[in-house]
Amino acid sequence: MRLAERHGTPLYVYDAATIRAAYRAYQQAFRPYRPVRTSYAVKACALIGVAAVIAGLGADASAASIGEVLAARRAGFPAERIQLHGNAKTDEELRAALRAGVGRIVVDGADEIAALARLVRRRSDPQRVWLRVSPGISSDTHEHMRTGALDSKFGAPLATGDALAQARAIIATPGLRLVGVHAHLGTELHEADRYRELADMLVAFARELRPLGARVSEIGLGGGLKVPIRAEDHVLSLREYADAVGPAVRAAGDLRATIYLEPGRSVVGRSGVALYRVVGTKRVPGVRTFVSVDGGMGDNIRPALYGAAYTALIADRATAPPEEEVAIAGSYCESGDVLIRSVALPTPRRGEVLAVPGSGAYAVAMASNYNHHVRPAVALIDGGRARIVRKRETHADIWRLERR
Ligand SMILES: Cc1ncc(COP(=O)(O)O)c(C=O)c1O
Repeated sequence: MRLAERHGTPLYVYDAATIRAAYRAYQQAFRPYRPVRTSYAVKACALIGVAAVIAGLGADASAASIGEVLAARRAGFPAERIQLHGNAKTDEELRAALRAGVGRIVVDGADEIAALARLVRRRSDPQRVWLRVSPGISSDTHEHMRTGALDSKFGAPLATGDALAQARAIIATPGLRLVGVHAHLGTELHEADRYRELADMLVAFARELRPLGARVSEIGLGGGLKVPIRAEDHVLSLREYADAVGPAVRAAGDLRATIYLEPGRSVVGRSGVALYRVVGTKRVPGVRTFVSVDGGMGDNIRPALYGAAYTALIADRATAPPEEEVAIAGSYCESGDVLIRSVALPTPRRGEVLAVPGSGAYAVAMASNYNHHVRPAVALIDGGRARIVRKRETHADIWRLERR
């Protein structure tokens, strides 16, 4: 409440202790299956101040663009502990990644192998790469959050032989060294069986590459773990997740592989809360009551884009009994800009602060200036003190790059 007073709203507030606990929970759950590297998926929240908390714990970083590589470097991740992903890496991006000395380039496509081959042909020290494959595993999540199915823009399909052909091409390329195989099933996942299948398939593929001369010793299992945002959310525990993927990799003793995990949401998702001001209420008797707030799809597009579900509470009356079911409507000029379809709350009043917990992942990261709203300020609480890690944008910031 005081933070909203001081810094205005919409305001995102991250808690460093929650981030650290989430990261350490991964260490704990995967202890029986070491060696394991946890590579924070920067795309979930690439803010330097937030990512620096995770870099400070000795994590790796998984970047989806050269911009995220640069952000990860600024946050303190060493270049050699950064993996660069992307299904459409340009020559400029590949050149910049090689120049930056990223630890692993996660190759995704035959064209990329050819482009890389040209860029590394004079290198004495080969660039270490992983090959991203498509396992053809379809998970129970929103279509736009599914990445492991055959009908996906990501990865070389195992089933069609493309993955093997691309592995052969990498192995035959001087200046490249294939050290890992990777796949990511999607996000907001909760099925242990899908993860188990994935681990089995990647281990089998890594073994298949041995006779071709590739010593694959890194198994990249992607990320994707769903986190509980509402009481009714069904999720996989970290223990269940570890026990689904760990044994398959450890059973392949000959590989002596390091497991790479790429959590994003499950590291930062629950550490962030969005604070909004209630602006007004509109009642449509027998239909719906809309409570409008001073934010919405421009700072959290996930409800509009994926139908993502959140809950809310009135910051100053968090324990007051609910009085009615309401929808939380954003202030953007879009009917789809409804942050929460239905939540039971004490009747909100204009000016009150509404808190939406579990907003730490893929909200601020996907923020926009739609309707020329400015992007929100972000605070980080650490050691009992709050500090701003990103200032609220101003309209001058938006127009800085524009000319009449
Ligand atoms: C390649 C890759 N790894 C990891 C992640 C992180 O996923 P999540 O935030 O669901 O853990 C993503 C996100 O979709 C991804 O595309």
